[in-house]
Amino acid sequence: VFAHLVQAPEDAILGVTIAYNKDPSPIKLNLGVGAYRTEEGKPLVLNVVRKAEQQLINDRSRIKEYLPIVGLVEFNKLSAKLILGADSPAIRENRVTTVECLSGTGSLRVGGEFLARHYHQVDMLSLLFFFFQKTIYIPQPTWGNHPKIFTLAGLSVKTYRYYDPSTRGLNFQGLLEDLSAAPQGSIVLLHACAHNPTGVDPTLEQWEQIRKLMRSKGLMPFFDSAYQGFASGSLDTDAKPIRMFVADGGELLVAQSYAKNMGLYGERVGALSIVCKAADVAGRVESQLKLVIRPMYSNPPIHGASIVAVILRDRNLFNEWTLELKAMADRIISMRKQLFEALRARGTPGDWTHIIKQIGMFTFTGLNPAQVSYMTKEYHIYMTSDGRISMAGLSSKTVPHLADAIHAVVTK
Ligand code: LMR
Repeated sequence: VFAHLVQAPEDAILGVTIAYNKDPSPIKLNLGVGAYRTEEGKPLVLNVVRKAEQQLINDRSRIKEYLPIVGLVEFNKLSAKLILGADSPAIRENRVTTVECLSGTGSLRVGGEFLARHYHQVDMLSLLFFFFQKTIYIPQPTWGNHPKIFTLAGLSVKTYRYYDPSTRGLNFQGLLEDLSAAPQGSIVLLHACAHNPTGVDPTLEQWEQIRKLMRSKGLMPFFDSAYQGFASGSLDTDAKPIRMFVADGGELLVAQSYAKNMGLYGERVGALSIVCKAADVAGRVESQLKLVIRPMYSNPPIHGASIVAVILRDRNLFNEWTLELKAMADRIISMRKQLFEALRARGTPGDWTHIIKQIGMFTFTGLNPAQVSYMTKEYHIYMTSDGRISMAGLSSKTVPHLADAIHAVVTK
């Protein structure tokens, strides 16, 4: 019965790793997936994670029972505190509901499905639209999985302008125009920091303008926070845009991932928080989130969330984590400088300052798909076809190889 099926294409990001693994070349370099590597090019398990796991193993009272549908309750509380701030008025007033989800993707999917079922624009006129599909506006470009997640969650997906290829920076005017033109009450996906794939973030002043515009139009913010601590090296700094939206007393959703900042990629640990206007609303929202989660995967896994809880609850481990996180962020920044210098030393034509200006794990190089495919074929360098490179996959040893390849392809 399945004989008619055609072969589906590999995922645009994860498929890069599959192609890389098949390449026998000793000089091959994987700059596709956003996953941290050490200077030796190896995946990193943080020391604090090893310590937390040891604590969990030593604790003979631990059992493997099902978690509640909402996941590990202590993890949820600590996650909300981490992203919204320990002194958040929303937490103090019990207006936040947080559920453990399967990393960033799972949090976005649960949030998307919840919105598709229960979100409707608040003014009377738009009650008319209640039975229509709700629309989420996502940046153009954005992480390739976003449109798929939200479409399958039951939302209609539209884009707003975000990136200006001519400056390799933010198209702030375009962003404001598109959000101004979005229908009242639409949902807007915002990358909290370290925008993927462009590495381009609004300044705090620009965030403030975005916030004012969105609140004036009743646009619902849905933050994707996949890189807290990775952009600036500081957990609080990277959460600032979200906290600005919480400080005005309004509602929002935030999807958190611990894949990058704790290196827990494969543990699939994340959280969805929904900030509401009142405690009783937050309680009812949680009850509805449970109805989304139960038929989807019943309840989330216990191990990853337990690691996070051990680290976040212990002051010493928490401090140690921030140092390890900062070291990862600093190594990435140093890779930016080294690549920029290497291109300058080669006299590579073009303005490459965006390599040092962009923020977070990725550089959006501006290389086109044909140039990417040339670099893969001739230099065994793997990256996504949109020209995004994961700076976290580079090391001092591999920078010259990448710089040679970029130089060759732009002077060809
Ligand atoms: C990426 O963008 O490379 C990461 O977020 C990994 C993924 O799942 O795509």
